[in-house]
Amino acid sequence: MAAGRAPWLAAGLVAVLMVVAARARFVVEKSSVRVLAPEHIRGHHDAAIGNFGVPDYGGTLTGVVIYPDTKPTGCDDFDAKFKAKSRRPVILLLDRGECYFALKAWNAQRAGAAAVLIADSVDEQLLTMDSPEASPGTEYIDKINIPSALVNRAFGESLKKMAQKVAGAGSEEVVVKLDWRESMPHPDERVEYELWTNSNDECGARCDEQMAFVRGFRGHAQLLERAGYARFTPHYITWYCPEAFRATQQCRSQCINRGRYCAPDPEGDFGAGYEGKDVVVENLRQLCVHRVANETGRPWAWWDYVMDYKIRCSMKEKKYTKTCAEDVVTALGLDLKKVLECMGDPEADADNAVLSKEQEDQIGSGSRGDVTILPTLVINNVQYRGKLERTAVLKAVCAGFKEGTEPRVCLSHDIETNECLHRNGGCWRDEATNVTACQDTYRGRVCECPVVNGVRYEGDGYTDCKAIGPGRCALNNGGCWSATRGHQTFSACTETALTGCRCPPGFHGDGHKCEDLDECREKLACTCPDCQCKNTWGNYECKCKGNQLYIRGEDVCIANSMSKLGWFITIAAVACVLGVGVAGYVFYKYRLRSYMDSEIMSIMSQYMPLDSQNNENQPLRQHDSEALRH
Ligand SMILES: *[C@@H]1O[C@H](CO)[C@@H](O)[C@H](O)[C@H]1NC(C)=O
Ligand SMILES: *[C@@H]1O[C@H](CO)[C@@H](O)[C@H](O)[C@H]1NC(C)=O
Repeated sequence: MAAGRAPWLAAGLVAVLMVVAARARFVVEKSSVRVLAPEHIRGHHDAAIGNFGVPDYGGTLTGVVIYPDTKPTGCDDFDAKFKAKSRRPVILLLDRGECYFALKAWNAQRAGAAAVLIADSVDEQLLTMDSPEASPGTEYIDKINIPSALVNRAFGESLKKMAQKVAGAGSEEVVVKLDWRESMPHPDERVEYELWTNSNDECGARCDEQMAFVRGFRGHAQLLERAGYARFTPHYITWYCPEAFRATQQCRSQCINRGRYCAPDPEGDFGAGYEGKDVVVENLRQLCVHRVANETGRPWAWWDYVMDYKIRCSMKEKKYTKTCAEDVVTALGLDLKKVLECMGDPEADADNAVLSKEQEDQIGSGSRGDVTILPTLVINNVQYRGKLERTAVLKAVCAGFKEGTEPRVCLSHDIETNECLHRNGGCWRDEATNVTACQDTYRGRVCECPVVNGVRYEGDGYTDCKAIGPGRCALNNGGCWSATRGHQTFSACTETALTGCRCPPGFHGDGHKCEDLDECREKLACTCPDCQCKNTWGNYECKCKGNQLYIRGEDVCIANSMSKLGWFITIAAVACVLGVGVAGYVFYKYRLRSYMDSEIMSIMSQYMPLDSQNNENQPLRQHDSEALRH
């Protein structure tokens, strides 16, 4: 559990050094679990994201819930791999208790699970499953790369019951969708994030993890901030010494500004090595480096400083000093005078503006809990859950952009999950063309029927995708049958049909396999008496008796030569046509002439009213003749 843990307080000092946070606030970062099947238990449930592994920030995962028959706590190695009947990813459901949460997740991952849900054993509010303190035997924590979440007892119980039923009878699988899309706020096109860290480099695994993160993430951080995609702020936790203890040896060695800002002794030994005070001063310097760098318009220089300082001024080599630090500041072209100004006098009995601000920020507000663990990453004001590792964090940062405004780095192969490499991510794939529905993105893999060379596929993406519409036959003949013999090709795919395969005429089958139809044997054609039928590939030949001609469309034979009556009818028909033509011509000439006569009369009448015409008709007539001209 993360609540109330105050690390780094050396033994004996807990009573002396107090965490600034006045009230411990504990915020659980939730994801949503949606049960999709079976129908009668459909619905939404909460799940608390575990603080290890890689939560799929911004993504979703649909999988089949499996509850192991044996070793349901997941504390021991599973001997076999779990597999869902439907080829969907496996979401392993385990019982809480008996060992670390992280160990359960690790065992589940090795048993082939794509995610792990842990069912709480008591009725209580959801809590954040934390990773155990690093110690020998917990090295697996770094290797966990699946997401995990805690679900409450009641929901866990009903899932278990359903999953066990499936295992017994042949009933429907329990399908759930884990949805992290709202776990990370993504309001706009800039992500604000902060890292709560420490300049102490001798605190074991946690310090190594922080440093490895700074080293790995530096490139991304600088790129994102330079391009205006992100604003990063480093933070440092400090403690304070209560009034009554200010004069003690402990407080004087671990605090600056007369007990106002303290850090635990790095070695936990007041007599040896560096003192807590040295750590506070270096923390303050790193804060000031960021301020000064920010003022000069390149806040990302902080990443360079921290990395260079770690390399050049390590505690182990006894170089964790002011001189070494100032060399690094100068080497990076930062204004040393300004940095010193910002730091003020650590011996003064006065507040330091920079550190006081840090103590204020340490207290959580809104969706964010107090910062009590180092390192802590806060993205868009929400505490990041999961391991502090380059790609896992980049994924979370990327999920903080409003959809569609992600920078290129978020869409690069670099942070793809590569889930498609394993069993094609459980998605559909056409073996013949390698067309796959699996798409690897930083939001996790999705099974979605693709568009290939402009051809759209449609289907559920898991077991079935079909090419739809124009161009579909160009790709592996639309998955349909086709065959060529000599220079003849037949295909069961037609562009006029949007989907499906149909054997062409002359063949029979389901469209994926077509066989020549023997029209002769099946008596489908050439059925006239005494006809001779011969089957060919995709067709047939028919010969009629004697001199007769075979008419394919009608499947009949007709006589080949014309009779005398035939000739007579033909001549009569030709004569008829000629007669009608001549008559038509005469009629036409006559009509044209009388029409022109009347036209000329009407034009002339406009200028010389004829006796027979009435004056009132004139405007109308003029209008008529104009209309005729056009
Ligand atoms: C960095 O500079 C920007 C303006 O350029 C300012 O808004 C921001 O608060 C500064 N950050 C810090 C930590 O001083
Ligand atoms: C499909 O991919 C496999 C392995 O990636 C390869 O061996 C095979 O030749 C590919 N087939 C086609 C048709 O491209």
